[in-house]
Amino acid sequence: MKNFKKRADLQQYIAGLRAGGAVITFVPTMGALHRGHLSLIEQAKVLGDIVVCSIFVNPTQFNDPKDLEIYPRPILDDIQKLEAVGCDILFNPEVSEMYAGNEKWHLDIGELEGLLEGKFRPGHYQGVTQVVFKLFNVVKPDIALFGQKDYQQVLVIKRMIDLLSLPVKIEMCPISREEDGLAMSSRNIHLTPRDRQHALILSKTLNKVNQHFDPEKIDELKQLAEADITAEPGVALAYFEIADGDTLLPANKNTKSIVALVAAMVGKTRLIDNVIIR
Ligand code: PAF
Repeated sequence: MKNFKKRADLQQYIAGLRAGGAVITFVPTMGALHRGHLSLIEQAKVLGDIVVCSIFVNPTQFNDPKDLEIYPRPILDDIQKLEAVGCDILFNPEVSEMYAGNEKWHLDIGELEGLLEGKFRPGHYQGVTQVVFKLFNVVKPDIALFGQKDYQQVLVIKRMIDLLSLPVKIEMCPISREEDGLAMSSRNIHLTPRDRQHALILSKTLNKVNQHFDPEKIDELKQLAEADITAEPGVALAYFEIADGDTLLPANKNTKSIVALVAAMVGKTRLIDNVIIR
């Protein structure tokens, strides 16, 4: 695997590959790679010729400095995992390589930015669009792959692509789960054994809502889900929403695409999860 830290070096190398006709696929990450990330790399290999993975803990998408500080950064372990799965190129820049200084620009992506995650993490999606735009500019991928676990992030990035007419196709890949249902996340390493047990209420509740879904009973289902999660010790619910899968506004019985999304603090760790209902 080739490892680049400088934008210019990576750009030059990829330009050569592209000139030879290679289809470039791209998996942007913040590292602390788990099986979910590796499944994105595997899917990227199926879809293209050259897989680029970036590992960059993007400071502008953290609204809590403590969260940024404790974000795991096991880079040597990550490199081994990427090599084992057959990733071709790693881009692992320093912050100064990605940001010129105190950058204030922000892409207006509309209502989506302030809903659900956006409401609880003000500025988060400004940071995500900033960095993904910059990464796309360096890698210029044909296809970029993102996990469904960050469902709202995928919608935000698709919106950015539409607004800026970027020539990249987005693939959303299914959530990877532990055997007991917990959605894989780099943050799971912060869960104590007890938190880990309590965290299962999130996937259990999403499954229950999915199994008992009835378009006539959306409000009732949402209330029951909120009550189940709130009753779980050690879990502080941020939101549970049954939403339109395209806009993330609350769904009603006529909504075509429906997704249930949840976010909660489990002990000291913030977790998100979702299920596509239809
Ligand atoms: O999903 C993530 O890991 C990050 O939000 C991303 C897309 C790599 C941007 O920093």
